[in-house]
Amino acid sequence: MMRTRPLKVALLGCGVVGSEVARIMTTHADDLTARIGAPVELAGVAVRRPSKVREGIDPALITTDATALLKRGDIDVAIEVIGGIEPARALITTAFEHGISVVSANKALLAQDGAALHAAAEQHGLDLYYEAAVAGAIPLVRPMRESLAGDKINRVMGIVNGTTNFILDKMDSTGAGYQEALDEATALGYAEADPTADVEGYDAAAKAAILAGIAFHTRVRLDDVYREGMTEVSAADFASAKRMGCTIKLLAILERAADGESVTARVHPAMIPLSHPLASVREAYNAVFVEAEAAGRLMFYGPGAGGSPTASAVLGDLVAVCRNKLAEATGPGESAYTQLPVSPMGDVVTRYHISLDVADKPGVLAQVATTFAEHGVSIDTVRQQGRPDGVGNEASLVVVTHRAPDASLSGTVEALRKLDTVRGVASIMRVEGE
Ligand code: NDP
Ligand code: HSE
Repeated sequence: MMRTRPLKVALLGCGVVGSEVARIMTTHADDLTARIGAPVELAGVAVRRPSKVREGIDPALITTDATALLKRGDIDVAIEVIGGIEPARALITTAFEHGISVVSANKALLAQDGAALHAAAEQHGLDLYYEAAVAGAIPLVRPMRESLAGDKINRVMGIVNGTTNFILDKMDSTGAGYQEALDEATALGYAEADPTADVEGYDAAAKAAILAGIAFHTRVRLDDVYREGMTEVSAADFASAKRMGCTIKLLAILERAADGESVTARVHPAMIPLSHPLASVREAYNAVFVEAEAAGRLMFYGPGAGGSPTASAVLGDLVAVCRNKLAEATGPGESAYTQLPVSPMGDVVTRYHISLDVADKPGVLAQVATTFAEHGVSIDTVRQQGRPDGVGNEASLVVVTHRAPDASLSGTVEALRKLDTVRGVASIMRVEGE
């Protein structure tokens, strides 16, 4: 039975994502009405700069007072696509206090304050949906929260930041410089307002925290996620990766410990074999591998950033939340019953690729190998070559290890740095996906 009174939507933010949400709400109004069972009406659009021309949006809907929009008494659902912590957090809280369910794309806020926001939604009997917060258009949050609710997820590994994948892909495939590739990603609307969040791994770490919480039914805070950005990845690293039959990706890796008693969450650049499906994820695409006990290995792939793809995920949530409203129900809230602790990075076990600049003289290789052995790190391969810059009496030594705890590798590197014969540690990169 179709309801004729429209559900009223407040759009908070009308930038890269919000403008596409507004456009699709207008152009697909009939389909949305049919799928929800009631019309949805864009009842107000909160922005910072009211005089900016916004194509296809009735200027009468524009306001700079988002709080007043939420308090006016007729709003059913708020879509928060402002980003950042404040005023987004205060606005979402205000929405809940006024009986308004919320759809958000704000991973930074959800990673920092997800628990409190979920609690507020639950307290008021409302929905908080955020499919767009992780991996843009890719259906991932809902499949993990709902479709896999009967399974046990043990590992998640993925590319969850479009900007850095775009940059690394350009550096690898065209030899583009870092800044040139970043400028292109920004122009395409992939990068955050401050690209530091992308290139230093904060954006991916926020997504990792959200995914880890959902995957392992526990609370993982942003601070629990080990994070390294990709600004140090060099052309030399790509050359080394190529020699190993690998490429380099910024990965988010979430793991349940073998004993099931703890979890780890990390974001860092890593070498992966060219044969691995994540190696062929190009441009701003994202892809996430989920390993579940009964389902086995699942891969989710698609556009991870950009206005229109992200709007697709926002609108999917809008339909779900509106249906819940009509049914006087709510969707699943936070599930954090396992309360598993998050172990430090030192406990993570993986392989490493280490490039050292060393003195080219007898006994150096033995000294380096001994240092690895003393820290319990087993060497898989060693390759030595003269320095490409032709520095005399110096060589470049590339060591690839077997699996070892991160703490042991850190101890090894610290000891290597103290050797007179080691002139420098040029790069350390983890090797994943083998
Ligand atoms: P933009 O910077 O393009 O848009 C932000 C919008 O918020 C603008 O319309 C801005 O107004 C408005 N705004 C800023 N401050 C206020 C305020 N105090 N009151 C009211 N409105 C305000 O961001 P994006 O659209 O790129 O991102 C929005 C959210 O979506 C973020 O959380 C982001 O992380 C997330 N996201 C973005 C993706 C992308 O590819 N861009 C992908 C996935 C998620 P004005 O237009 O006047 O400046
Ligand atoms: N800046 C983010 C990215 C947007 O590049 O992936 C999508 O969350």
